[in-house]
Amino acid sequence: MTNITLSIEKTLNIISKSDIEHYKLQAEKYINVLHDGSGKGNDFLGWLNLPSTISEQEIAAMEKTAERLRKQCEIVVIIGIGGSYLGAKAIIEALSNSFNWLQTKRKNPIIVFAGQNISEDYLFELQTLLQDKKFGIVCISKSGTTTEPALAFRLLKKQLENQQGKAAGKDLIVCITDKSRGALRTLTTQEGYDTYVIEDNIGGRFSVLSPVGLLPIAIAGFNIRELIKGAICMQNACGKDIPFEQNIAAQYAAIRNALYQKGKKIEILVNFQPKLHYMAEWWKQLYGESEGKEHKGIFPASVDFTTDLHSMGQWIQDGERTIFETVISVNKPNANVIFPKTDDNLDGLNFLAGKRVDEINKMAELGTMLAHVDGGVPNIKIEMPELNEFYLGELIYFFEKSCGISGYILEVNPFDQPGVEAYKKNMFALLEKPGYEDATKAIKQRL
Ligand code: PA5
Repeated sequence: MTNITLSIEKTLNIISKSDIEHYKLQAEKYINVLHDGSGKGNDFLGWLNLPSTISEQEIAAMEKTAERLRKQCEIVVIIGIGGSYLGAKAIIEALSNSFNWLQTKRKNPIIVFAGQNISEDYLFELQTLLQDKKFGIVCISKSGTTTEPALAFRLLKKQLENQQGKAAGKDLIVCITDKSRGALRTLTTQEGYDTYVIEDNIGGRFSVLSPVGLLPIAIAGFNIRELIKGAICMQNACGKDIPFEQNIAAQYAAIRNALYQKGKKIEILVNFQPKLHYMAEWWKQLYGESEGKEHKGIFPASVDFTTDLHSMGQWIQDGERTIFETVISVNKPNANVIFPKTDDNLDGLNFLAGKRVDEINKMAELGTMLAHVDGGVPNIKIEMPELNEFYLGELIYFFEKSCGISGYILEVNPFDQPGVEAYKKNMFALLEKPGYEDATKAIKQRL
């Protein structure tokens, strides 16, 4: 199969040959640092070889668990936050029918997510939905102590046990967590739940190709072997011995840093295919949490076009020139819809009659790119042949690899997230969590 490709030509009016040469050398240096494990956060590099190291035994076990839950459940709730849900959500949305929810004849359970917010309304509505349904739970938390998923798990586990009884409920719960630490591991061992491990050396946002992403994707009915195959293909195509000129992960890392250096502080990930909306959410977490440190880092934003051309289009075309765009372009749609002719042509659209809708979308894409480049917005293009498991596996690994290189070029540790702790400390102080007495006193004085 052909790989996804990267085009950088439409950035070359902003960055010079010598900029490219400089960042090429940086990318070459840091791809080696990544591979020899001599950089910051080097205890979190398990993802680097994950697609090729995941064992047949583990894949088969996940498929078996998925098959069991698919047979037993009308709905499966995936509980997790950040890296513990975004990858699965991104792939499932990208591969699912847009009107999945409304389909009555289903082969696979409906997948819903929880533990990614603390909204009482969301949880109430979910509990109401699940009231008369046979449902299962996959609870995912590497630390096993994150508040949002722990809250949702306690509520939904209780509901499941009330509806099914404790013994039957047990068979409908799967936990994915650290192998020995954390409250979720303790509970899993105590209750005897089916379980998978997140290895110590894989951080949340780099975990989609581990059971964290693979099990929910398999439960949704998608082919995780193809996803892994695609990721392995990209692992080989972006290895440290692949020259810069052919290594798209190194190129993307180099170009975005060159643009950042030119004052392009915001990168907007663009799609013309709404199924990719959550891919952008996953990407924002990957790059935002990996690079936004030490008062540095490109701000990752995203838009769905053409929808957002009617909301954000004006800003992108004419606003402050601190942005660049990275477009994910899908070459071939899965469907085939031909635009019809009408006798009266009242809407004036007969000139489009006989064309595929995707052809119109592609012209919107091309026209937008030209307008934005003319308006001073450099454009990087990532082309995917089609939306399937294989190419999504390639895309995931491409972004992960590039993120590691890019974070190192920026001279930050791409694999930690110290800034995420600040809100938690305040929240616990405000909720008067035992052990936070001094913080509670201090924060109350500020209110
Ligand atoms: O990328 C990360 O490490 C984070 O986004 C985590 O995935 C997120 O905070 C959830 O953590 P945990 O899986 O420990 O509940």
